[in-house]
Amino acid sequence: MHELGAGTSGINPHHGSTRNPYNASTIAGGSSSGSAAIVCAGLCPVALGVDGGGSVRMPAALCGVVGFKPTAGRLSNAGVLPLNWTVGMPGILAGTVEDALIAYSAIVDQSQPSYLRPELNLPQLGSTLSIGNIKLARYGKWFNDSAEDIRSCCDKALQALRANYGWQTVDVTIPEVEEMRLAHYVTIGSECTTSLAKYLDKLKRSEIGWDARVALSVYGSFSSRAYLNAQRLRNRQMYFHKQIFKAADVIVSPMTGVTAYPLQDDALSTGELDYINGAALVRYSIAGNFLGLPAITVTVGYDRGGLPIGLQFIGRPWAEATLLHVAFATQQACAKGYKKPPVFYDLLGKQPD
Ligand SMILES: *[C@@H]1O[C@H](CO)[C@@H](O)[C@H](O)[C@H]1NC(C)=O
Ligand SMILES: *[C@@H]1O[C@H](CO)[C@@H](O)[C@H](O)[C@H]1NC(C)=O
Ligand SMILES: *[C@@H]1O[C@H](CO)[C@@H](O)[C@H](O)[C@H]1NC(C)=O
Repeated sequence: MHELGAGTSGINPHHGSTRNPYNASTIAGGSSSGSAAIVCAGLCPVALGVDGGGSVRMPAALCGVVGFKPTAGRLSNAGVLPLNWTVGMPGILAGTVEDALIAYSAIVDQSQPSYLRPELNLPQLGSTLSIGNIKLARYGKWFNDSAEDIRSCCDKALQALRANYGWQTVDVTIPEVEEMRLAHYVTIGSECTTSLAKYLDKLKRSEIGWDARVALSVYGSFSSRAYLNAQRLRNRQMYFHKQIFKAADVIVSPMTGVTAYPLQDDALSTGELDYINGAALVRYSIAGNFLGLPAITVTVGYDRGGLPIGLQFIGRPWAEATLLHVAFATQQACAKGYKKPPVFYDLLGKQPD
């Protein structure tokens, strides 16, 4: 993974960079890079990751697997996340929506009293049509703020959902999306600095890559005033999202603004700071973390270089069952386009030569 989880590329100058099984010259995404790459390459059906700003869903999309981040609090943080982050939470990476559901039902946290967590519903995925008419909210300007291949592929997926299930897309506006991204950045940076304080004091900065060093400096620079203002925006965004969920069941967007980009040779030994691609990678992730909303990504196609494209669904709080249904239906509608990655180990069948 990326050093300290403080980056999105998975380039790690000290322990090696994760490569994308769809093209070993491109990034796997991050920070849960290894989890995404091993599931993609067939080495295991399911892996866990931690998602503080898209770190499960984003590498999942880049590596063509399912990335599922339940509502904040639905999975226990114990043992996965030794930090008290309000934006970071565990998530599941899986080869299929069915596998994601199996893993989810196995690790879901039922130890808390029910007034803290609404009752758990595990959907019967075979009965997709029984969930009826789903309304998908799309914020056009935001949806379109992605590479051309991503935009057209995600558009086609929405058309397929309409053709197969009659699901309608409704146009909405999510106000202050860019402000939300910045407020989330202040929040995750402040929380990371605070919860890692006792380790950071002892850390020799020269032992970590340049990009992680820069990230730590920026993270440590936020004032309590900035943090508190960010929490005001959080309340405001929750209100905006609740309004949208009155008109639609889920919000739909591309999972990333770009597909896996090339690994530069010199970045392998130094690390890399790429804020243009980095911002495009996390553009659609933020509500899942800042508002704790459940979200899932499914592969809906490939760009002209053969690299996977993910479509994301963001749900109402605790609406995991609806999300899994919607994701399964999307997987079914897009299944015939599936392409196996060139690096793939068929552990149950024929071994590669
Ligand atoms: C996180 O918060 C809980 C409750 O406030 C506390 O019991 C626990 O020790 C904290 N964990 C860490 C790693 O700070
Ligand atoms: C988004 O792009 C589509 C074409 O892909 C176009 O029809 C639509 O008007 C665009 N929406 C906005 C809000 O820019
Ligand atoms: C893999 O990615 C590299 C870097 O983008 C590109 O030059 C190369 O053509 C790609 N390979 C294939 C087989 O598409």
